[in-house]
Amino acid sequence: MDKSGRMNVLAVETSCDETSAAVVRDDLAVLSNIVLSQDEIHAPFGGVVPELASRQHLKSIVPVVRESLTAAGLPLEAMDYFAVTQGPGLIGSLLVGLCFAKGLAYVHGRPVLGIDHIQAHIESAFLENGGLEFPVLALVVSGGHTSLFVLKKKLVYRLLGKTRDDAAGECLDKIAKFLDLGYPGGPVIQKLAAGGDPGRFAFSLPRMSDRSFDFSFSGLKTAALRTIRAEKISKEGPALADFLASFESAVVRALLSNLRRAAEKVRPKSLILCGGVARNKRLREEFGNLAAADGLAFAIPSPKLCTDNAAMVGALAWAVIKSRKKIPSAMALDAYPRSK
Ligand code: KG4
Ligand code: ZN
Repeated sequence: MDKSGRMNVLAVETSCDETSAAVVRDDLAVLSNIVLSQDEIHAPFGGVVPELASRQHLKSIVPVVRESLTAAGLPLEAMDYFAVTQGPGLIGSLLVGLCFAKGLAYVHGRPVLGIDHIQAHIESAFLENGGLEFPVLALVVSGGHTSLFVLKKKLVYRLLGKTRDDAAGECLDKIAKFLDLGYPGGPVIQKLAAGGDPGRFAFSLPRMSDRSFDFSFSGLKTAALRTIRAEKISKEGPALADFLASFESAVVRALLSNLRRAAEKVRPKSLILCGGVARNKRLREEFGNLAAADGLAFAIPSPKLCTDNAAMVGALAWAVIKSRKKIPSAMALDAYPRSK
């Protein structure tokens, strides 16, 4: 508890290649949200190298947590709860954050909450839009996940569909890597696609034969690679912007066509778009258009809250604490690499 009698959560996120720590107050004010990206370390490899990621988390976790407390202007003793991403993610990376948070909780005699990374991404939308009406249909799009969830009410998640192969962000990252554009691929593609003609190269969208709400991006990736070879697309070539605009637009259409079908079935009151790929301008715009056309409320977190960060972990921790669900003992928590 701080001097004014408010309670605080110290949240830690190390599921992939960002080391992050945040202090979130009981009224959901984000007092600090420090994110240290490892992009430079993984860029030469065109993707995250798990062993390098966990070693870097080990080096960064203490300074990042310290900086987070300093930025919040609070000592460790003012933290009433600790919260940490438990999964899904890279097992070595997850374990660094989990062991660290367990250690803090043990020494300070405070509870620690294990938080699901995907649910935390969804919560990032509630952090800025507390009044969203249920049922909510949430599209989570990141480098590791592409999933659709229905929330009948707060903290009640039903998985409607997920990717059967690559995640949307992974697909963007792989095409950027193939063209030697840099890592992560999503932001580079967005930048280089600006001004390009999204109608120049045609990509057909995947269709699930069983009419499920699952996604698939491997076909789109193969089609993009085929076009790159056939049309001799290169980093320096004149058709790059048109190609990237067409490809980016196909990824957006693949995501939104599934969302539209799901919305027809579920009839939600609100839509959420979240995860790292939700930073994408084209996706944000077209998602907003889709919601407006259906007369639905919608929320997309501000860009900083879309990519991995600990504030979303702290926000979900408060939702769990306030729901008075039983908080398991700190030492019983274990990391899980795959979705629950
Ligand atoms: O949520 P996140 O930080 O990590 C995972 O949980 O995976 O998402 C990272 C992903 C990467 O694939 C990255 O290329 C993508 O988000 N991304 C973007 C943009 N910014 C980040 N994709 C498209 N457009 C962007 N502006
Ligand atoms: Zn994520």
